[in-house]
Parts: sequence; structure tokens; C-alpha cells
Amino acid sequence: MQIMLIISSLFTIIFGIHRVLGSLGQSCPPIQSMGNMNGESLMGLWYELERFSDVYEALFKCQTANYTMMANGTIDIVNTGYTYIGEYPVVYQGYGTPQSNNTSNVSVVFPKFKPMNADILVVATDYTSYAVMYSCSDLYFNVKQENAWIYGRNKTISSINNQTMTQLMQNLTSMGISVNNFDLTKQDCDN
Ligand SMILES: *[C@@H]1O[C@H](CO)[C@@H](O)[C@H](O)[C@H]1NC(C)=O
Ligand SMILES: *[C@@H]1O[C@H](CO)[C@@H](O)[C@H](O)[C@H]1NC(C)=O
Ligand SMILES: *[C@@H]1O[C@H](CO)[C@@H](O)[C@H](O)[C@H]1NC(C)=O
Ligand SMILES: *[C@@H]1O[C@H](CO)[C@@H](O)[C@H](O)[C@H]1NC(C)=O
Ligand SMILES: *[C@@H]1O[C@H](CO)[C@@H](O)[C@H](O)[C@H]1NC(C)=O
Ligand SMILES: *[C@@H]1O[C@H](CO)[C@@H](O)[C@H](O)[C@H]1NC(C)=O
Ligand SMILES: *[C@@H]1O[C@H](CO)[C@@H](O)[C@H](O)[C@H]1NC(C)=O
Ligand SMILES: *[C@@H]1O[C@H](CO)[C@@H](O)[C@H](O)[C@H]1NC(C)=O
Repeated sequence: MQIMLIISSLFTIIFGIHRVLGSLGQSCPPIQSMGNMNGESLMGLWYELERFSDVYEALFKCQTANYTMMANGTIDIVNTGYTYIGEYPVVYQGYGTPQSNNTSNVSVVFPKFKPMNADILVVATDYTSYAVMYSCSDLYFNVKQENAWIYGRNKTISSINNQTMTQLMQNLTSMGISVNNFDLTKQDCDN
């Protein structure tokens, strides 16, 4: 078990830097996503306000995601982060394919950075102030890699209604997601 932990930690650091490793003895929880969401309304610019702590977070800040619906229904994804040192923008471009009968389940591919590929579930959004996304894969026997993000249309977490925020955390918790893994994303750039 110890060795598996070490190997999987290395795996996480080298190949899965955008995800965190779940605790031993846990597999991905069954998550209730939104079913068919209004994809068009989710498009546009989102600021990352919170994410599960991971290595990626230690290198970048001021992350944004910009979604554009293409004519064929594929979502063009432009993720941008700024280096802590020097505030250099780093851009990851990807494509999202919503499952045809359950559009809140989006398969995301980053052609130039395949370790970031993931099935992303949109767990909740009001389209105008917040969007909660979740990704989890069972790595192997009883070990999961998961990440979760809270995005906002504005740069501050306080722009999300407190009651909504409380409800979101309760809902995530009741689905088996450890909300204490969330860390605030620093949003102090002039982007
Ligand atoms: C869509 O997928 C999510 C995640 O698996 C699930 O919670 C939800 O029930 C599904 N909805 C439908 C309509 O299949
Ligand atoms: C988001 O993407 C759209 C479409 O490519 C573009 O017009 C817009 O300027 C982008 N927004 C930002 C903030 O980069
Ligand atoms: C939609 O168009 C984009 C860009 O041309 C392409 O990469 C993607 O594979 C297409 N998606 C589908 C479902 O055909
Ligand atoms: C959605 O499509 C998948 C794959 O085609 C299928 O397995 C699943 O049962 C469908 N779900 C619903 C709710 O129709
Ligand atoms: C999301 O859809 C993919 C297929 O696009 C499927 O493999 C996966 O099981 C679905 N995830 C959930 C949680 O339903
Ligand atoms: C977001 O910021 C804009 C512009 O600063 C402001 O008009 C809007 O009320 C803010 N929305 C929320 C939910 O805080
Ligand atoms: C919302 O929460 C923030 C921080 O938790 C707090 O500073 C603020 O006073 C709260 N606002 C309301 C209206 O409760
Ligand atoms: C929390 O879950 C309840 C019950 O499913 C739902 O009605 C409510 O809209 C959810 N709240 C948020 C903020 O997603």
C-alpha cells in the first residue's frame, strides 16, 4: 500500500498535475450532475475562484476559462493561467464534447497536454454567477484522482450569493465530495 501511495503520488505529480489523489479506500462517488444543461448559456469567460489543492495551483494563479460553442456543437476551451513569478500567461487550448443525451457530462481533450484530458461534470450553475465542475477517475484499486472547481463570472468568491454558496457546499458534501479540499485561487492580475 505504501509503495502504491508513492507511485501514485509520482504519477499525480508528473502526469496528473491538475488533479489530486483521493484517499485510499475510496473510489469515485456517484455524482448527480445537471443532466441536460443549457450549453449556450455556459459559454463565455469564467474566473476560477476555488479548486482542489494540487501542484498546478502552486505554479499558477488568476486562472480563467473561456468557452465558445462551435457550429458543430464542440466547445472550444481556452484555459489561461499566470505564473506566480513574472505573471506570464500560459494558455491551454482544448475541446469539449458534451454527451449527446446528458450535456452536463463533457469529455475534454487537450491535444497538446493530454494528461489534462478528463470527463468533466457540470454539477451546478446558474450561468450568470457560478459554475461548479467536477472530475474523477478511478486510477486503480480503491484509489481515485479527482478535482473540483468553482468558477465565477466575477473575480471574487463574495460575488456568489452566500446562501447559494452554503447550499452548494452542502450539496457537494452530500454527494461524497470533500469540500475541505477547496483552496481559493488567487485572482489579483490585471487580466
Ligand atoms: C447525467 O449524468 C450524470 C452523471 O453521471 C447523472 O448524475 C445524471 O443522472 C445523468 N442524467 C441523465 C438524464 O442521464
Ligand atoms: C473569449 O473567446 C471569445 C471567442 O474566441 C473571444 O472573442 C473573447 O475575446 C475571449 N475573451 C477573453 C477574455 O479572452
Ligand atoms: C468540430 O470542429 C472542430 C474544429 O474544426 C473539430 O476539432 C471537432 O472535432 C469537431 N467536432 C465534431 C463532433 O465533429
Ligand atoms: C445516454 O447515452 C449513453 C450512450 O449512448 C447511454 O448509455 C445512456 O443510457 C443514455 N442515457 C439516457 C438517459 O438516455
Ligand atoms: C460521461 O460520459 C462519458 C462518455 O462521454 C462516460 O464514459 C462517463 O461514464 C460519463 N460519466 C458519468 C459520471 O456519467
Ligand atoms: C460582477 O461585476 C460586474 C462588473 O463589475 C457587476 O456589474 C456585477 O454586478 C457583478 N456581479 C456579481 C454577481 O457580483
Ligand atoms: C457572506 O460571507 C462573507 C464571507 O464569508 C461575509 O464577509 C459576508 O458578510 C457575508 N454576507 C452576507 C450578506 O451574509
Ligand atoms: C442543492 O440541491 C438541492 C436539492 O437537489 C437543489 O434543489 C438546489 O438547487 C441545489 N443548490 C445549488 C446551489 O445547486
